[in-house]
Amino acid sequence: MAEEKTISVLCIGDVCGSAGVSIVEQRLRPLKRAKNVDFTIVNGENAALFGINPDQAEALFSAGVDVITLGNHAFGRRENASFLDENSYILRPANLSSSLPGQGAKIFSIDKGGRVFRLGVAVLLGRVHMDLMAENPFTCADRLLARWEGQTDGVIFEIHAEATSEKTAFAWHLSGRASAVFGTHTHVQTNDARLIGSTGYITDAGMTGPIDSVIGVKPETSVEGFLTDGVNRRYQTASGDGPLCGVLFTLNNNGRCLSAETVCQW
Ligand SMILES: [Fe+2]
Ligand SMILES: [Fe+2]
Repeated sequence: MAEEKTISVLCIGDVCGSAGVSIVEQRLRPLKRAKNVDFTIVNGENAALFGINPDQAEALFSAGVDVITLGNHAFGRRENASFLDENSYILRPANLSSSLPGQGAKIFSIDKGGRVFRLGVAVLLGRVHMDLMAENPFTCADRLLARWEGQTDGVIFEIHAEATSEKTAFAWHLSGRASAVFGTHTHVQTNDARLIGSTGYITDAGMTGPIDSVIGVKPETSVEGFLTDGVNRRYQTASGDGPLCGVLFTLNNNGRCLSAETVCQW
């Protein structure tokens, strides 16, 4: 019997500041080699604190990233609006208005030893304690799966959300229908990577950025914001070293997830 080919997809949590970009530049290639990673998705929404600059996106792609996703800060850098339309390897949340630039879902081809695996990738915003008026991510995911019927070998959803309950319910909703669901936005890796049926899942992939920070922000600027009831909220990105955090999903030919493993690379 022929050995089954598998696809390894590494999903990396929110890259914070230029320090986070440097961490990806230093650690991604060795990690990809060590883990035989076929495809890498990175959330880059905080590379420029609120948003990402074109040169940072370029640096992440040069470091070995295949797709950059964005979350609630996708449009934090207004000057980049056209950039989202021009680069089809950057995804902004799919459940925001079609009048906004960019796209939120796309099918990518992964060449695995001569066989092409068609991986659908979509990023969706949650709605619990989130500030944007996103469409229901559950029904949006249903619609995407229906639209992609027969066109993909596997589908990975990123749920960019605050509430653990919303992320976990989202994964259960897609259990057996999506290859994997990974959460982002809360910036702290959760200890719950597992399979829900044949769907890989983690509540939050974690953050890639300076450890001496408040979820990537300079501690004193965050503390000042809380001390002043949110009035003096002048966040700055932190600097220094920290781990590259993510989750590695191994999928079979049919897009079923075989394993979900956390990655926390110093
Ligand atoms: Fe974030
Ligand atoms: Fe976010």
